[in-house]
Amino acid sequence: MSMATEKLSIGVIGGSGQEGGGLALRWAAAGHDVIIGSRTAEKAQEAAQKLNTLLVGRGQLRGGSNAEAAAQAIVVLAVPFAVQLATAEALREQLAGKILVDVTVPLVPPKVSRAQLPVGGSAVVTLQRTLGEAVKVVSAFQNVSAAHLKDLAHHVDCDVLVCGDDAAARETVIGLARDAGMHGWHAGVLANSAAAEALTSVLIAINQRYKVPGAGIRITGVPRD
Ligand SMILES: NC(=O)c1ccc[n+]([C@@H]2O[C@H](COP(=O)([O-])OP(=O)(O)OC[C@H]3O[C@@H](n4cnc5c(N)ncnc54)[C@H](OP(=O)(O)O)[C@@H]3O)[C@@H](O)[C@H]2O)c1
Repeated sequence: MSMATEKLSIGVIGGSGQEGGGLALRWAAAGHDVIIGSRTAEKAQEAAQKLNTLLVGRGQLRGGSNAEAAAQAIVVLAVPFAVQLATAEALREQLAGKILVDVTVPLVPPKVSRAQLPVGGSAVVTLQRTLGEAVKVVSAFQNVSAAHLKDLAHHVDCDVLVCGDDAAARETVIGLARDAGMHGWHAGVLANSAAAEALTSVLIAINQRYKVPGAGIRITGVPRD
């Protein structure tokens, strides 16, 4: 992991949880100004305290309401699929004019190792349609298991497919992947998010078969910086 070149203000909706909390921790360690959100501000503050103990002098992050998280310059949505749309719709005003990074995987329990994409083909595309053009939705991090994110010493061996209809917004998210210690790739339009969303069930099946917590993916054949 490296220090960020530009300090960004990042809010993680649902950052009290596994995936959002892990990414938030890594962005705080890279020097970004990070707030993790929750439906209950106190729960986020407690989660932030725990994460801050892992940062040991490498920055600090804050906890607050989901509305406070959504008020930051860049917003990340990290809540379960079942509440993805309702959570984002409730924050529509704060999200206008911003990049919203959606990490949602549309898993259908209990068969989470079976790809079952929703009607419309992609959870992230449906989110973009719901929020409209005022929000630049970017899909990323679906294939990054939360298992190792909170261990800052652990190299997360997983590339990040970054899909979105706005190339500049994708570039920003590729920077966020780098700051979290991973390699992000321009992976095409937002509709391509369907592949990343489905791929997570493939990785879960691999996790189960090979008894590992966090199988990842790697793009080959392209030079890396
Ligand atoms: N876990 C992974 O390895 C992983 C990997 C890639 C992508 N993802 C995706 O990341 C997202 C979050 O996953 P996660 O594992 O971090 O989930 P999680 O820890 O179970 O939930 C994240 C947060 O969502 C909020 N939440 C939970 N149930 C809710 C409800 N009924 N209504 C409103 N908010 C609710 C909670 O925040 P408050 O209770 O504080 O409001 C919780 O802390 C999911 O879409 C998942 O598919 C996860």
